[in-house]
Amino acid sequence: MSHILGVTSSLRSKMNPKKVLRKIKNFRDFDSVVAYINEQAVAGELSNSEAGLVAGIYGAMSLGTEVKDIIVLKDIYNKKSQLPSSWTDRLRRLLNDCQGLLFATPVYFGDRSSYLNAFLTYLDQEKLVPEACVAGFISAGAKRNGGQETTNIFGILDCLRLGLYAVSNGPPTSQYGGTIFAGSIGSVADESFGLTTSKGTGKRVGEVSKLLNFDTKPNLKILLVGVSCERILDLAEKVESALKRKKRIKVEFLNLADYAIERCRACASCPNPRTKKNDYKCIIPDEMKKIRSKIIDSDALLILSEGENDPHFQYQIFMERTRFIRRNNFELTNVPVAQIHLNSTKEMSIFPARILTSFLRHNTVFVAPPLIISGKENKFVFKTGTEKYIDRFIESCRRIVGGSQVVSLENNYYEPVGYRAM
Ligand SMILES: Cc1cc2nc3c(=O)[nH]c(=O)nc-3n(C[C@H](O)[C@H](O)[C@H](O)COP(=O)(O)O)c2cc1C
Repeated sequence: MSHILGVTSSLRSKMNPKKVLRKIKNFRDFDSVVAYINEQAVAGELSNSEAGLVAGIYGAMSLGTEVKDIIVLKDIYNKKSQLPSSWTDRLRRLLNDCQGLLFATPVYFGDRSSYLNAFLTYLDQEKLVPEACVAGFISAGAKRNGGQETTNIFGILDCLRLGLYAVSNGPPTSQYGGTIFAGSIGSVADESFGLTTSKGTGKRVGEVSKLLNFDTKPNLKILLVGVSCERILDLAEKVESALKRKKRIKVEFLNLADYAIERCRACASCPNPRTKKNDYKCIIPDEMKKIRSKIIDSDALLILSEGENDPHFQYQIFMERTRFIRRNNFELTNVPVAQIHLNSTKEMSIFPARILTSFLRHNTVFVAPPLIISGKENKFVFKTGTEKYIDRFIESCRRIVGGSQVVSLENNYYEPVGYRAM
């Protein structure tokens, strides 16, 4: 059985974790959980982000995972923002056998709470981050679009940086986690969308935590996807030969620049949830069909990018065309993804973050932060950092792909959200 830990980080936390955990175990359906959340929130016993966490924990438990504990950061941090030393050992024990972390935070200025910020840094400094563990984010803000998504995305990026894996909130929307829209304590009672995305986040963390419980080390087929041209060929060649030196790995390089693809027509042909797994329903007769078959035939994706964009703007055209891959019942579900980015200027590149946010929508699992390689040299120098990144990528992919071969999870179905029924 996989184990999950919940973390709640509001400045006005109210939750009594023991009581909540005892209670959730007895619920058989989500409606009862929502009724309980509403009652507790109105009574002032749960803050809004905590309400989301309860929904998320139910989502994880509904898959048979065990939620070991919920840590209320407000209760354990002292005024100087330090954790009492007794907590290091307790956390080490809790995290030692933990395959999933579910973080809940209020949105404060479009970002996480200061408790959560301190806690993430602490996990890193004390080397408490488990070896193979997936994280999901739930946030609550008083405004619609008040920063719930920025908070979740920054949280996901940070978790990847710490060595955790990261997921979305899963179908039907597969965005960036739980997004609660509620301000005053108790107002979460009207927030069914946010509670549903929070439940989805917990379920997604639960699903991937189950995959991480196996260590079967299968053979892997890795696809390198090149999304720019200039120095990508050199990088791809070096990464490809590094991967080929590893045992039981097949690798293929797909350079988007070699394919002629049109823009998505935003038509109504591809939301076709009844399409069979391998049907290709895009109406545009171009080479996207070949790209798609290479992508879905692979076990894992390593995206190689460069600069701020590609000269032909082909990356975004490609991304838009992957719409039917998502709509074809999330064909990339649980495919591990990582990315290497060549940065030739001193300016911050947002390209890696864009790649992350788009590929997460495909219900994939990000297994590493973007590896950013800086420098202007024409030839890219393969350093130990890159070798280590590749080793960890392979190890993570084997775990997730191996787990997917053993664990049977519910099928995903695409349901249009935000569109009228056709
Ligand atoms: C310091 C501070 C900053 C805030 N910043 C935002 C914000 O950027 N966007 C937003 O929608 N709400 C913001 N809020 C409102 C809270 O996110 C909102 O009340 C939320 O429900 C709090 O979650 P909680 O009930 O779990 O504490 C802020 C509140 C505080 C105290």
